[in-house]
Amino acid sequence: MKNGEMKLLYEGKAKKIYESSLDEVIIYFKDDVTAFNGEKKDSIIGKGKINKKVTIFFFKMLEEKGIPTHMISDIDENSFLAKKVEIIPLEVIVRNYTAGSFCKRYGIEKGIKLEKPIVEYSLKNDDLGDPMICRNVVLSLRLVKENVLNKLEYYALKINNILSNFLEEKNIILVDYKLEFGISNNKVYLADEISPDTCRFWDKDTMESLDKDVYREDKGDLIDKYSEFVRRINI
Ligand code: TMP
Ligand code: ASP
Repeated sequence: MKNGEMKLLYEGKAKKIYESSLDEVIIYFKDDVTAFNGEKKDSIIGKGKINKKVTIFFFKMLEEKGIPTHMISDIDENSFLAKKVEIIPLEVIVRNYTAGSFCKRYGIEKGIKLEKPIVEYSLKNDDLGDPMICRNVVLSLRLVKENVLNKLEYYALKINNILSNFLEEKNIILVDYKLEFGISNNKVYLADEISPDTCRFWDKDTMESLDKDVYREDKGDLIDKYSEFVRRINI
């Protein structure tokens, strides 16, 4: 792929989106890694291709189980072709165990299994640090229609069942994760990525992180842990 020749539509902290045709885009996974809303940043060679590989694997699995995704086909080590969608400005977060900002917000310890999975929303706005937003505010601000919001929640929980069950067999706990969705022709698609950057994965026996917490909390070599995750899920 000759990135220089293509029109860059958007550059985020970890990905670039290039225009491929009128209704298709190329999602390019960068090696850049950031945490704490970009306060901490580095470039770690090989990270992009691992996240692309994991995303493709999970998107294919979810598509086969009835979740529409924007992915069309694999392109190369760092990129895949996707349907152009209008990204809904919400981060949809699902939590199965306490961790991260949830522990900070409520002053509770990490690693408690929740009575039932929680779906939370954050407003996608880097300047505001992606603040948490509740359903009522989402609807009152007309960010999305109620039927769409219901669909996001339905998909988020269905994805939770599929991924948790799959990972459980690999002796990995799906602690929490973040999803993004887009709309094209009034249809909702799972978009963005599902990778060790956007999920918390813990080894079931040792509770060791196989995800971006390794970087956030300086707990070792990110590539080692991401590679260990890839090895464990056999891709
Ligand atoms: P949190 O505990 O920091 O709110 O994160 C919850 C989950 O969402 C965790 O798996 C990491 C993921 N996440 C992202 O993918 N992007 C983000 O910008 C943030 C804050 C979290
Ligand atoms: N992705 C966010 C950032 O850059 C936050 C995080 O994942 O911790 O900074």
